[in-house]
Amino acid sequence: MITGGLGYIGSHICAELIKPEFEIVVIDNLSNSSKDVIERIKTITHQAFKFYEVDIRDKNELRKIFDTYNFSSVIHLAGLKSVSDSIQSPLKYFDNNVNGTLSLLEVMEENKCYEFIFSSSATVYGVPESLPIREDLNVSPNNPYGEGKVMCEKILNDISLSNPNWKIGILRYFNPIGAHPSGLIGENPNGTPNNLLPYVTMVAYGELECVNVFGDDYPTPDGSGVRDYIHVVDLAKAHVKMLEKLSSLKEPINIFNIGTGEGFSVLEIISTFERISGRKIPYKIVPRRHGDIAECFADATLANKYLGWYAENTLEEMILSTCSWMENKKQL
Ligand code: NAD
Ligand code: WQD
Repeated sequence: MITGGLGYIGSHICAELIKPEFEIVVIDNLSNSSKDVIERIKTITHQAFKFYEVDIRDKNELRKIFDTYNFSSVIHLAGLKSVSDSIQSPLKYFDNNVNGTLSLLEVMEENKCYEFIFSSSATVYGVPESLPIREDLNVSPNNPYGEGKVMCEKILNDISLSNPNWKIGILRYFNPIGAHPSGLIGENPNGTPNNLLPYVTMVAYGELECVNVFGDDYPTPDGSGVRDYIHVVDLAKAHVKMLEKLSSLKEPINIFNIGTGEGFSVLEIISTFERISGRKIPYKIVPRRHGDIAECFADATLANKYLGWYAENTLEEMILSTCSWMENKKQL
């Protein structure tokens, strides 16, 4: 089962995972996605899959689906993901993301389905104690979205202690960007995006006027914030590796950073996007965004070692695929 499988990351996981040897069931409440994605995933994979429009908080609907299939594993992506919305509406975020995860885990346990892969986030580290960020650093998120991720991680730890059958993989994603090489799926933000790449993309394509660079006085080489951008297809492949390896890993809980290990600044992103797209990207420096940190990039050694996973795509490839998606999606 893939929850949230029609969303940005979930659709790319479907594109990697839907193969004759796997039977995949996708569930999504379509709160941030649309049914069109189903046909596009089918075009990419040449294979049908079952889809259920269900909210993961609805245990009765989940039970019906678990009664129909004998799931070996669940990849759990369904969730709300905006840090700023979570600050505005913390109850909505805890209900959707934490209660949703509880509901899913409860139904999994009832059905003796114990393999679980969870979408966590680098936001759990808050202001990192050191760089590059290792998985054993303290978690100390500074927003309700990140707090919800930490709560879910703690719940997963507790259930793994309560029942040795659980095998859990927690993937802490850094900053996913880019799109599928087919140009059929990619990020499709509603309204004005908060994240840098969708914002820069909309400015490049004339849908927004100018990028606001949140601060040029950080202790980084050019003063703007540095992040670890990871191609969404590489991220999707990390899930496939996790699924393949999980049952053979010794520990009940396995936490991996999923990033490239390399940081790029906001100004580097803008200049690389301009070079790759051949489009002008006006920008202006504005004050820092509340809650932002200077630098964030992963130590992905554990994922390399235990999953045999390596990020393969360069920043240029990430941006190129974003441009193809932007150009292609007008015709979809
Ligand atoms: P997305 O919004 O594109 O996809 C999430 C999907 O979950 C959507 O299709 C939405 O309709 C669905 N959904 C939300 N709540 C649901 C519910 N209660 N029941 C059923 N479906 C529900 O987001 P994404 O970028 O693909 O993120 C997927 C996961 O990865 C999320 O858990 C997010 O927190 C996590 N994550 C994302 C990023 C990022 O930058 N995109 C980084 C780290 C972690
Ligand atoms: C990147 C850099 C900004 C927008 C967030 C979540 C994290 C994860 C990914 C889900 C920063 C700067 C941004 C803009 C800018 N999501 N910026 N102008 O903040 O690293 O992470 O998304 O889990 O949890 O916290 O990503 O893309 O918002 O920002 O200058 O219009 O770009 O200050 O340095 P962030 P981002």
